[in-house]
Amino acid sequence: MASMSSALLPLLLLCLWFYHVSGDEQGLWVVRVESLLPRPICSSPKVPAAGGNTLKVAHRRGPCSSFGTKPNPALTLRQDMLRVESLQRGLSGGAPSKGTQLQASQVSIPTRWGRPIGTGNYLVTVGFGSPRKDQTLVFDTGSNVCWIQCMPCAGSCYQQQDPLFDPSASSTYRNISCSSATCSSLDIRGCNSGTCVYGVQYGDQSTTVGFLVQDTLTLTPENVFQNFVFGCGQNNRGLFGRAAGLIGLGRDSFSLVSQTSQVLGGTFSYCLPATSSSTGYLTMGRSATSASYTPMLTDSRDPSLYSIALTGISLGGRLLPISPTVFQTSGSIIDSGTVITRLPPSAYAALRTAFRSAMSQYPMAQPLSILDTCYDFSKVQTIEVPTVVLHFDGGADLPLQVPGIFFVADISQVCLAFAGNGSPGDLGIIGNTQQKTTEVIYDLGARRIGFATKACS
Ligand SMILES: *[C@@H]1O[C@H](CO)[C@@H](O)[C@H](O)[C@H]1NC(C)=O
Repeated sequence: MASMSSALLPLLLLCLWFYHVSGDEQGLWVVRVESLLPRPICSSPKVPAAGGNTLKVAHRRGPCSSFGTKPNPALTLRQDMLRVESLQRGLSGGAPSKGTQLQASQVSIPTRWGRPIGTGNYLVTVGFGSPRKDQTLVFDTGSNVCWIQCMPCAGSCYQQQDPLFDPSASSTYRNISCSSATCSSLDIRGCNSGTCVYGVQYGDQSTTVGFLVQDTLTLTPENVFQNFVFGCGQNNRGLFGRAAGLIGLGRDSFSLVSQTSQVLGGTFSYCLPATSSSTGYLTMGRSATSASYTPMLTDSRDPSLYSIALTGISLGGRLLPISPTVFQTSGSIIDSGTVITRLPPSAYAALRTAFRSAMSQYPMAQPLSILDTCYDFSKVQTIEVPTVVLHFDGGADLPLQVPGIFFVADISQVCLAFAGNGSPGDLGIIGNTQQKTTEVIYDLGARRIGFATKACS
């Protein structure tokens, strides 16, 4: 008896550390306050084996990335606003900028507008070239072109964690010529001594300009892609942290999911971890999990984005009084790079009212940037939080776990991680906080988006 209880004790403590789910059905989570905060050390659960094409995902700011950067809530929210503005203005098809120079001595080429990457982003490590050289990159469903910083950095390169990619050390590296069909399909391009030049200017002063090239991409040892097309960045600057570049997972032909679709079926999924002190995963190709699906829609304002139809929100097990036309007016997308979910103004107002009333026993804290419903949990050990479920067309539900409800600046300022849009017509965005711990499945072939809850922690 005694030996059994001592064996069970660690397990019991582990359960207490995470949330008890006992109250789930009654519309209430009971959570230990510490569980909201990242721990100082990374815990890396085993990623599910999905045919060997699963990569580990780490938050860029926290103990699971090798970058050594600390969380910065204020900066994260500022960057998030820039990203949302650009998504809502539909900058992707926008006018070319005045241009960025490929290198100091040369004329500038126009650059395509990309979206600000933000700082709330997630990283994966993949290999480029032969022999493969590992590069840690931000992945982003709101971007399309993949790029890495490349030697000789004819313009300039920012500091990155991995050694810089050296094209001359790869036996499979090829430049793409200006006259090729691949080059012509870049909507904004340049030409330098016969080599195709790409450029992306993100809306936050970040830019990358360089050669369009192809080389071998190694996702995992079992998943190697020859002639993968990407940007070899020669002049790069901005807010990429110490990432070597970016993997675009949008719906355009240059994205990773499009370029690998013949083999991997145009499907990928990811699970973002509960906090920056654990890891999640990105699976290229079919996912093993069963999920609830909603149709993947196409918004003509930007067909490369993943549009879905949000139809309602429940709090504490009850559907909030929001007319479905409110969501139809705005439209919605799901995005891996936006941190905070943006709702039409009247939908957010209904959520805020119900949430504040359910949380009325806790002292409120100062608003934090766009977040106006914040609490001070510094004097309590456990909290009771109403469940929140997002409902989508086709009967798909996204039930948020507790990490999907809050944005935690620190324990005395824990905020409801939703914000209202400025006007009813502004695009709604399902942000990455709300996606935490759920496997989000992007099935481009079947045109559907799926949610499998409690897939990672
Ligand atoms: C690729 O193109 C650039 C610019 O024209 C050139 O400097 C470089 O040597 C080329 N590399 C290869 C491997 O052809």
